[in-house]
Amino acid sequence: MKTQLLQNEATTTTTELLVVFAVDQSTSKDANAKAEPVLLTQETSLLKAAQAVLNSGEFKATSCETILLHAPAGVKATRLLIVGLGKQAKVAVHDVRKGAGAAVRFAKPRSIRELTIALPSGDAFAAHATTRAAVEGAFVGDFDPDTYKSDRKDQSIHSLVILSPTGTDHAKASAGYAEGVIFGESQNFTRSLVNEPGNKMTPTVLGERAAAMCKEAGLKCEVYSTEKLHELKMGAFWAVSQGSEEPPALIVMTYEPEGAPAEPVLGLVGKGITFDTGGISIKPSDGMEKMKYDMAGGASMIGAMRAIAALKPKVKVIAIVCAAENMPSGKAFKPGDIEIAMSGKAIEIINTDAEGRLVLADGLTYARKLGATHLLDAATLTGACVVALGTVYAGSFSNDDDTYQHFADGLTTSGERFWRLPVEEEYREQIRSSIGDIMNTGGRWGGAITAAMFLKEFAEETPWIHLDIAGVAWMEEQKPWIAKGPSGVPVRSIVEWVRSYAK
Ligand code: BES
Ligand code: MN
Ligand code: ZN
Repeated sequence: MKTQLLQNEATTTTTELLVVFAVDQSTSKDANAKAEPVLLTQETSLLKAAQAVLNSGEFKATSCETILLHAPAGVKATRLLIVGLGKQAKVAVHDVRKGAGAAVRFAKPRSIRELTIALPSGDAFAAHATTRAAVEGAFVGDFDPDTYKSDRKDQSIHSLVILSPTGTDHAKASAGYAEGVIFGESQNFTRSLVNEPGNKMTPTVLGERAAAMCKEAGLKCEVYSTEKLHELKMGAFWAVSQGSEEPPALIVMTYEPEGAPAEPVLGLVGKGITFDTGGISIKPSDGMEKMKYDMAGGASMIGAMRAIAALKPKVKVIAIVCAAENMPSGKAFKPGDIEIAMSGKAIEIINTDAEGRLVLADGLTYARKLGATHLLDAATLTGACVVALGTVYAGSFSNDDDTYQHFADGLTTSGERFWRLPVEEEYREQIRSSIGDIMNTGGRWGGAITAAMFLKEFAEETPWIHLDIAGVAWMEEQKPWIAKGPSGVPVRSIVEWVRSYAK
């Protein structure tokens, strides 16, 4: 998608599709009350063109609601698309992100390959944040997961123009625009990795894709395999990989900008299970095909590093992806086995399907060994997290309030949603092993928390955040602004967390 930012009048812009946003001004809480949709523009010709349809009652300006006008009078565009952002009193920048995505997804199946989005102005829409969000939303909307359809018609948008309203601070809009392109492309890069099936996206291929990205972005990247796992005594990571014919990949990406202070060193660790059968504790076949997205945490770290390399915050970052395929075989690890992790802890394997925490345990230890002073991991870790929070919020956990605050502060900007769950010592009891130091599962209750407690053991004293993205990394249903398939969450929030240490 070719994009550009202009500061022109929307009325006089020649385009196949002009997109303008609207809000509902009505303050009534009654769901049956009449909506009062208003267009978010100062341009009188546009207001006039939309007047009849806004007065008709056919359009209520609810979030992502669209209405199309052909040959709008007094406006140069071929078509005018009005996109709702919801109630005016509640409208936020994130609604613009969704609205821009909805506009792009409106255009795609209608053979419209070029569109112009006119940004709103006003107090709720600061130039930098609004421009950035609109661009991100457009990129997110442009992604479709149908790469393997033999009769695939490329419906992607060729050209997108973002119009920043006259009178807005052009420097701020430009900066927001540039960031939006970086975030949007990086999030889609993650999604393209997550979308690949397990036979195409093996740990080795994930390593190659990471290395190629790093080369292009100017990042240092090392990809190791079995031998290095043995050398580092990564018994937990190795155990997960040992049942598969596919060798594991330990991917280490380093960002060390000139002029960055020696500390902090941020350590990102991603779960990269390219397919999770469950291993000997095999999963039911129903729905198992979805376990190709069990590398979404790792793919998020790769996408985040891509964005970080382009945004150039003055802070050191090390990202580690622990990639392996979890398979049953004659060589596979088994329930009852004892595995010695890199940290020296003896892990009693209860269930080989609790493999994510095992690869992450060694990833966290390695990040600390490489000098990380703050840790953040992301993983499609537990079904229990999906039971607790559904597919709207992801789970977050931390052993340090200050570190967590850095993450929480970025969520307004990222528009992603996390709910913090506890990691208190009383839960530790559930994973106490009688034969070793720790068990890899903790029984039925609080499964997302006991998984986090397991990881906490390997973060040790280092400030740490854990993101359980099992419920949000894959969209089960399409939404007006995003296709069904990989979501690219939590790339934006991870990058915001990193940037918060460079401020
Ligand atoms: N990859 C799964 C978790 C998962 C579930 C991700 C649903 C996405 C959607 C993970 O490796 C797993 O199998 N976890 C087990 C842990 C259990 C054995 C303690 C689970 O959640 O059932
Ligand atoms: Mn599993
Ligand atoms: Zn898994």
